[in-house]
Amino acid sequence: MPENPRPAARGASADWWRQAVVYQVYPRSFRDLDGDGLGDIRGVTERLPYLQRLGVDAVWLSPFYPSALADGGYDVDDYRDVDPKLGTLAHADEMIARAHELGLRVVVDVVPNHTSDRHAWFREALAAPPGSPARDRYVFRDGKGPDGSRPPSDWMSHFGGPAWTRVPDGQWYLHLFAREQPDLNWANPEVREDFLHTLRFWSDRGVDGFRVDVAHGLAKDLGEPLRDYGGVHPDPMTQLPLDGSHPLFDRDEVHEIFREWRKVLDGYDPPRSAVAEAWVATSRRVLYARPDELGQAFNFELMVSPWSAEQFRVEIDAALSAAAVCGASATWVLSNHDVVRHRSRYALPAGTDLDAWLRSGGTQPAPDDEVGLRRARAASMLLLALPGSAYLYQGEELGLPEVADLPADVLQDPIWERTGHAQKGRDGCRVPIPWTREGASFGFGDGGAWLPQPASFGELSAEAQDGTPGSTLELYRAALRLRRELQGDETLQWIDHGIPATTHVLHLRRSTGWESVTNFSDADVDLPAGEVLLASGPLGEGTLPADTTVWLRPAGA
Ligand code: NOJ
Repeated sequence: MPENPRPAARGASADWWRQAVVYQVYPRSFRDLDGDGLGDIRGVTERLPYLQRLGVDAVWLSPFYPSALADGGYDVDDYRDVDPKLGTLAHADEMIARAHELGLRVVVDVVPNHTSDRHAWFREALAAPPGSPARDRYVFRDGKGPDGSRPPSDWMSHFGGPAWTRVPDGQWYLHLFAREQPDLNWANPEVREDFLHTLRFWSDRGVDGFRVDVAHGLAKDLGEPLRDYGGVHPDPMTQLPLDGSHPLFDRDEVHEIFREWRKVLDGYDPPRSAVAEAWVATSRRVLYARPDELGQAFNFELMVSPWSAEQFRVEIDAALSAAAVCGASATWVLSNHDVVRHRSRYALPAGTDLDAWLRSGGTQPAPDDEVGLRRARAASMLLLALPGSAYLYQGEELGLPEVADLPADVLQDPIWERTGHAQKGRDGCRVPIPWTREGASFGFGDGGAWLPQPASFGELSAEAQDGTPGSTLELYRAALRLRRELQGDETLQWIDHGIPATTHVLHLRRSTGWESVTNFSDADVDLPAGEVLLASGPLGEGTLPADTTVWLRPAGA
């Protein structure tokens, strides 16, 4: 009997996603069933019962489409197929069917800002002359200077270096990420139509929702002359103009694209969900989540916040009110495949430069892993107590740290090369998951792991934590079970301890009476009255220790 039984996904309510817990699988690092050293779709299918038992509602798979893996699969050769290294379309169908049997929904990634340079369209564009319809699906321009040898604008790649690469006939093409990821031209009707086709393709195969990569980047001001912006990316969450005037990001025209998508997604029963990846300020982000657009947008504010009650409180309030104004559902994220895992972030002094820390191999400053784990568990319980939808990243339920000491010769993230080795990139959170205490790649697969796992992964494996009282895995299982039982409407009420701006405690109550209290300070505080339902760490005699969250049911609730 599964520990978290629930009805099958089909026929269930249209807004299942509003308060869902979604588990992100990074397929090549999850489970390698065919032993080639790379995770695969059948590996995901095999582990779906684990996810069901964990108690999540849905699984989101990062791209598993044909790809040279120049950017971990976010360089897509064909949006409507499966990478032969990861399986076949039949394997994807089996995975979707099995998930549904287990009552889990499936969300897939859609990457509309760019294709890979191996996509049929890009090959065609390279073979076609300047000014041709094939080139118009991308952003090709002549260069500056008498011989066109300078890039058409000063736009920079997110991964470092210029955002333009020159092709043999002298033109340049735009890529906001790696050179293997040419940007599409969303003013081209064929591009628009093709993505509607992709949404239908996966919806017809039964997927329940989509995660939309770089949603804020699709509409660009490509009017001539291209507008230089000083060669420096504004910090998207704090420095992008709030009026949609940046030439590349968060332009108002982008919303028209998603209104078109919503019509397609609403053509299904139940309507397919969607969540935008849009690194913009809260007030702008929620526009992508309007009901006639995608419905949700990732809120990354907690992911970039230090361990601070004040900061968490500000971000939670801002996200909830912005979501409510738009009729959207709030979302919460602490970790994903692009950032240092939250256990490690919280193990470091506030303000640590994470790039410099990774460059030092994770030694400067030395992380306090115990504090990191305590805070990570407390933060995850707080996250799961919030109204709205929570996105978990594979391995956080095991309390995995960032693998910060990966040697340079194994790094695969394009950021490493493109920044001239100034930034190590994101491989440290993508190391394959440990399933067993011992054995080849700790149960990831018989073919070894594509990134080396540290010895500490054995004791952090699912096997080592399964059934172990107090383990992080059991904490997540218990929290997800309780969350399901206690879930209320999409509001919360704060119970203030002292002046909110100076308090170190966040105490909230949900509409069902369920309370969550987090002590962000380094000293004990009084434990509020009520029946203790779950705690992220040991409690004192009537006290809530430092870096701990407790869930309570007050008397009479
Ligand atoms: C966001 C994805 O999460 C990241 O992994 C990827 O590198 C970029 N978009 C480009 O697709």
